[in-house]
Amino acid sequence: MPDKPFAIDLKGVSYKYESADSPALDNIDLQVRQGEMLAVLGRNGSGKSTLGKLFNALYLPTSGSACVMGKEIKSEDDAYSARRHCGMVFQDPDNQMVATIVEEDVAFGCENLGLPPEEIRARVSDALSTVGMEQYAKSAPHMLSGGQKQRIAIAGVVAMHPDIIVFDESTSMLDPSGREDIFDLAVRLNSEGVTVIWITHFMEEAARCRRLVIIDGGKIALEGSPRQVFSDVKRVKQLGLEVPDMTYLAWSLREAGIDISTDILTMDEMEAKLWDLMSGT
Ligand SMILES: Nc1ncnc2c1ncn2[C@@H]1O[C@H](COP(=O)(O)OP(=O)(O)O)[C@@H](O)[C@H]1O
Ligand SMILES: [Mg+2]
Repeated sequence: MPDKPFAIDLKGVSYKYESADSPALDNIDLQVRQGEMLAVLGRNGSGKSTLGKLFNALYLPTSGSACVMGKEIKSEDDAYSARRHCGMVFQDPDNQMVATIVEEDVAFGCENLGLPPEEIRARVSDALSTVGMEQYAKSAPHMLSGGQKQRIAIAGVVAMHPDIIVFDESTSMLDPSGREDIFDLAVRLNSEGVTVIWITHFMEEAARCRRLVIIDGGKIALEGSPRQVFSDVKRVKQLGLEVPDMTYLAWSLREAGIDISTDILTMDEMEAKLWDLMSGT
């Protein structure tokens, strides 16, 4: 099968905040194909959110070229089109609520697109059912749990029919079950064709994406499949991150002289390797 076209294509992109001395992003080359689910990792301040905001054209590159769905983003006019293609879900569910009734909140983005009211109603209802929140259409957002609020924020983005959704640490304020729910929802949207950029500091989430990049000091430091990237435990630690628990255990066993490979991500894989070791295969 031919490769899908790029959803995002950055060539030599740098971005410097006006007030800063050095660039927040420094000469980034990154391509993301349509339909991919890419995890973005990096320590605090490494440039993850800035990168996400470039995809969504909240920022325009200071230098280099950024194409979103085949169109280069050079001016504020192009930015409008990029924003239609690419939605963002942020970290704090409370900061994303703009209306006092759920369905109005979900409709907000569509209203900004200037869609006709019947179209908006249909999209809002579809989006609420996509995120499993249709029974809360008339509720007040502040009555909802953090996870439910994130679902509403996602519905607002989904209703705009974006090709790409950037989730910027969207699970970091949720409890483990809320976190799992939102991650699963992102996986489902991805399986339905949405390109997903999953910015996270949870290694287990990153391990479940097909590809990941680690950024550090505004540059891409490591890139590849989770298995490739995490098996380089020392380098990942140097970058201020942890590896998944099972990868770390395999690495520790290896350091202790046990002949086990470090490309292990899950408990099931660890169990299988340990059985192999014990049975001498
Ligand atoms: N609005 C801003 N003005 C000036 N500097 C900023 C601004 N936002 C972020 N930065 C700086 O840019 C760098 C990258 O920040 P950010 O993209 O938020 O990183 P991350 O999301 O990985 O924590 C950091 O050094 C941060 O201090
Ligand atoms: Mg951030």
